Amino acid sequence: MAKITAGVATSHVPAIGAAIDLGKTQDEYWAPLFRGYEFSKQWIRENPPDVVFLVYNDHASAFGMELIPTFAIGCGESFAPADEGWGRRPVPDVIGHPDLAWHVRQSLAEADFDLTIVNEMDVDHGLTVPLSLMFGQPDAWPCKVIPFAVNVVIYPPPSGQRCFNIGKAIRKAVESFDEDLNVQIWGTGGMSHQLQGPRAGLINKEFDNDYLDRLVTDPESLAAMPHVDYLREAGSEGVELVMWLIMRGALDDKVEVLHRFYHVPASNTAVGHLVLKNSA
Ligand code: DHB
Ligand code: FE
Repeated sequence: MAKITAGVATSHVPAIGAAIDLGKTQDEYWAPLFRGYEFSKQWIRENPPDVVFLVYNDHASAFGMELIPTFAIGCGESFAPADEGWGRRPVPDVIGHPDLAWHVRQSLAEADFDLTIVNEMDVDHGLTVPLSLMFGQPDAWPCKVIPFAVNVVIYPPPSGQRCFNIGKAIRKAVESFDEDLNVQIWGTGGMSHQLQGPRAGLINKEFDNDYLDRLVTDPESLAAMPHVDYLREAGSEGVELVMWLIMRGALDDKVEVLHRFYHVPASNTAVGHLVLKNSA
């Protein structure tokens, strides 16, 4: 059977992708950030997943004001990097796992979660930057990837509780798939950042570090946090953090923290990163 073995949380700032693509990872500004991912790159080389179930948000690249699915699962064979205004990132296409994606779609319907099915879409920095941070610059991504897009751009996004619950349902779905697959689930976005308005540039280290603590030890209490708390404490784009609760919901109640990293700043964003191992 397929099994979810680990979870990864990471921010997904576009400038990180540009730093990688333009060979700037050793620049003074960027080197401390990339050092924080060295453990994870080594760990994933030693523990390669067959499939990554990658929870991310689209930033008006594949979807726009005309169509805004709350939860959308990529069921296609492959997904190209999106052109976000500077051309497509020079990274490989993402190869999907249609059989597992359709199985999750079916299983979640039975658990009362109705997902939008996406057979064709381009994937933006929300998905490709985490892949680059974890895998570097290979000619082809070393595993299949199921894109799972969450609307956190146009209000209202799903609640933290809804995200946590859907994570639990995703775990059941994956672990009822009749093929031996090592599956990781990743949650991306966050941490505190606000890109617009009078509070643009907001960073809240105290909130972020408390979020990292509680995501590990007390995710139920985070699931109960209302959107307005994210807005006040973590800024308007900080609400991306609800996606980390999908990842956490798909893991055991008790998890082992293999790696934790926090760094400010990367562009306008506080970067947080966790590698969590399922104990079972
Ligand atoms: C930035 C961060 C994001 O999460 C994003 O989606 C776009 C931009 C930034 O800090 O520049
Ligand atoms: Fe974002």
